[in-house]
Amino acid sequence: MPALEIPESVPFRVDPMRWEDIAEVMEIERRAFSMPWPMRAYEQELFRNPNAHYLVLRPREVRTVGPMFPPPRLPILGYGGFWLVPDEAHISTIAIDAPWRGRGLGELMFLALIEEAIALGANLITLEVRASNLVAQNLYRKYGLEVVGRRPRYYRDNNEDALVMSVEGVRSPDYRGRLEALKAQLWARLQSAGPIPLHRSGAN
Ligand SMILES: CC(C)(COP(=O)(O)OP(=O)(O)OC[C@H]1O[C@@H](n2cnc3c(N)ncnc32)[C@H](O)[C@@H]1OP(=O)(O)O)[C@@H](O)C(=O)NCCC(=O)NCCS
Repeated sequence: MPALEIPESVPFRVDPMRWEDIAEVMEIERRAFSMPWPMRAYEQELFRNPNAHYLVLRPREVRTVGPMFPPPRLPILGYGGFWLVPDEAHISTIAIDAPWRGRGLGELMFLALIEEAIALGANLITLEVRASNLVAQNLYRKYGLEVVGRRPRYYRDNNEDALVMSVEGVRSPDYRGRLEALKAQLWARLQSAGPIPLHRSGAN
């Protein structure tokens, strides 16, 4: 049961990633990243890395008229994960499938990762992000992460630099207060989300 409590009025849910989710996660992964992780990386993370924690985001329910048989499987819209060692959470990945970006779902996933990390004892959140990925950097800044370093030519596909971003003291009352304020705004935004997808993008 993930640490983030999402109000019932918000039509999305976050669950721990399970083995049977990996194939669907891989479809999003291949679309989202120029250097996608291979499937075995997720298998290793889920089963061989005790410090790894991965979550998936889905619609809360599918609204249909009349009974549907078999009941539809709720599509995964995004996912993310982190490694916790010992009180530092290193966000290893986060992605929302392209058709569902720009609606607050990346923020919901990021918030779920932060809450999970805090519940497991994290006091610092850190990650690497492509220097050109301004969308992700904006999201991280919104949650208090600041650029603390640069790794030159970190990404092998185009020799792009990575920025290291982090925020310390996430257990502090100040940071908790900031999270609560952001959460309230996010719930209001997501409650008025548009129609919920019945199928994965590309599938009918
Ligand atoms: C990064 C990513 C997860 C963000 O998810 P998203 O659902 O599009 O983002 P949200 O709608 O939740 O927006 C959250 C914040 O991100 C930033 N953001 C989102 N879209 C943006 C845009 N088009 N331009 C600038 N900033 C943007 C804003 O800070 C936004 O907060 P705001 O709505 O209050 O302005 C998503 O774009 C993605 O999956 N990208 C591909 C994979 C990736 O780059 N992962 C990050 C690796 S480090």
